Amino acid sequence: MKFAIISDVHGNYPALVKVIEDANLNNVDRFIFIGDYIFDLPFSNDVVQYISKLKNADVILGNKETYLKGLSKDNQSSWVFDQMGALHQIYRELSTETKNFISTLKEEAYIPLESNNFIYASHYTKGMPQQAKKDCGSASFHKKMLESPFSHEQFLEDFRMLINQDDYKKIFNEINAEIILFGHNHLQAYGYCNDKLIINPGSCGQPLDFDNRAAYTILEETHSGFNVIEKRVEYDIEATIQAAKKTKVYECGTIWCELVFLAMRTGRDYFGILFEMASEIASSKGEKGNFFTNETWQQAYNIFISTRL
Ligand SMILES: [Fe+2]
Repeated sequence: MKFAIISDVHGNYPALVKVIEDANLNNVDRFIFIGDYIFDLPFSNDVVQYISKLKNADVILGNKETYLKGLSKDNQSSWVFDQMGALHQIYRELSTETKNFISTLKEEAYIPLESNNFIYASHYTKGMPQQAKKDCGSASFHKKMLESPFSHEQFLEDFRMLINQDDYKKIFNEINAEIILFGHNHLQAYGYCNDKLIINPGSCGQPLDFDNRAAYTILEETHSGFNVIEKRVEYDIEATIQAAKKTKVYECGTIWCELVFLAMRTGRDYFGILFEMASEIASSKGEKGNFFTNETWQQAYNIFISTRL
């Protein structure tokens, strides 16, 4: 049995189509989607409809989908922050079919293997230590890469050391499955923790490991064990960006979309850098609250652009 493991599409329909084509060329039997299908790019309905019609697919929730509950309860007249403009417009454009499909999804799944064992799939493993974000987040990956560039093989070594730390071991041991999948940080990796195989397929729609090609991972169960193949697939990034620029989502959240485009072009996480700049400006002005004022958000972006170019 051959599985294609796909995560973090983030509305990037053209990337998803290419990944599915590649998986089919590799004779995959089953797809496992581990969350974050919507938001960031304005093609969320296309992504969800495409996934919902695939045969042989297990689909679970990501944090982006769980935002929907909160948004549906919101009074939309309070949606005045440019920082959130793209997200709010994508939410407004979600179709009933998309929302209905998402409402059927669960947070985790145990998928049977031929060997009578299981694959455990979740967007991020429950109880993952608090420092997980710091240890293996895309923003810290970006910083470390700039300080001292490293190869994917070196990153895999670090990932394997990380998942073998005691606190991670404890979590994985408590999961009754031979294979454990998680995504969320957009960094592709895999490795063993004792006898369990841990796989993060990276991000299909917004990879953040300095490689801008769409990521997914093939897992093959054979008589002698498991084969893992990390795949990267090219798609037309510029055509995707040009199509996104023509939408109302771009109009409503231009700065956010420009950051997404930058991430798509470079495979790098610039979100954290802009947020740090905006936080500094906000605190220097004594601004408080959950969101940055539109003036602060724009000022931070102006500085970000002038210092980056
Ligand atoms: Fe996520």
